[in-house]
Amino acid sequence: MKKTIISDMTEGIDPAGIELGGKILREGGLVAFPTETVYGLGGNALDADASRKIYEAKGRPSDNPLIVHICEISALEKITESVPETARRLADAFWPGPMTLIFRKSDAVPDSTTGGLDTVAVRFPDHPAALALIRAAGGYVAAPSANTSGRPSPTQASHVWEDLQGKIDMIIDGGEVGIGIESTIVDLTEETPVILRPGYITREMLEKTIGHVEMDRSLISDDSAVRPRAPGMKYRHYAPQAPLLIVEGDETAVRERIRALVREAAAQGKRAGVIATDESADCYGEGIVRSAGTRADEATVAAHLYAILREFDSLGVDVIYSEAFDTAGIGQAVMNRLMKAAGHRVIDAGKEASED
Ligand code: TXA
Ligand code: MG
Repeated sequence: MKKTIISDMTEGIDPAGIELGGKILREGGLVAFPTETVYGLGGNALDADASRKIYEAKGRPSDNPLIVHICEISALEKITESVPETARRLADAFWPGPMTLIFRKSDAVPDSTTGGLDTVAVRFPDHPAALALIRAAGGYVAAPSANTSGRPSPTQASHVWEDLQGKIDMIIDGGEVGIGIESTIVDLTEETPVILRPGYITREMLEKTIGHVEMDRSLISDDSAVRPRAPGMKYRHYAPQAPLLIVEGDETAVRERIRALVREAAAQGKRAGVIATDESADCYGEGIVRSAGTRADEATVAAHLYAILREFDSLGVDVIYSEAFDTAGIGQAVMNRLMKAAGHRVIDAGKEASED
């Protein structure tokens, strides 16, 4: 077991903590840090051994590539083979911010960072502690989400502690993150830009800047044989310990069906967790009900979803029912993560219970 140092930066940057974190990273150690999306588990991206340590600490399959975090656009020169014009425009529009771009990689990036791929994912995060740490580390920090593989991504330092204490050198506590789900990933290595993972930056936002953008077929197809191009998207991710079922359909029908399911569970001696909204939370009498946020602003739902899944884990509920979210904006990313957590189990509230 390592001794995991915690550096409190909830009230602002602590220069001594940043210096220490930078030193640990330069020497090949691991530091978890806040970003605007979720907490990342950082290691020196140009050090093959550091990348291997990241996989080990997370228990993550090593064919699942890491995102390289930078703190200035000029850092692209060293780690990419070339920077297409579309990338320049997207970087100008959305960096620093919750967008990851995929490029052809240069030899400076070790294969263990990219899981053997000849491409590299790059992100310039918008968080003062993250940027200060990346700078102090020398400019290139590989960082997957700082959770044990298969668990929901951490949105608070306590989540990182839960999963990784004793396995990493340091955690920078920046309080609760702002966005709460991982960055939008855009692949720019083919003719047409493709979204590999939806996030806060939506397709519409990207298209305003660079024109037509496609969605990876695995994001829109129900056929599980369609393999996602982001290797990490094929794993059952963000998974709570209890089975999660999503109930979709007309608002009233959804509420009625969830109420019935919670009653059925209770009759079998099971405790059910319900993921509701500010609008609906009061209508569920039974069950352990949590509002993720308001439908009027689904960014609030994105911000709380993972913490609720973790809470249901720690409460040891037997089953979780969630209302569906699916709108053109960030609701799409929320639904993408929920579907993965649910292993794609969806109940249509408009159909008879026996058909589920
Ligand atoms: O918001 C975020 O992106 C967070 C914070 C910490 O920055 N990071 C994050 O990393 O979500 P991670 O490792 O949990 O997810 C990275 C995803 C995986 O699905 C991985 O397969 C994909 O990015 N990816 C990484 N490099 C890739 C590449 N060269 N080609 C295709 N997909 C790639
Ligand atoms: Mg992750």
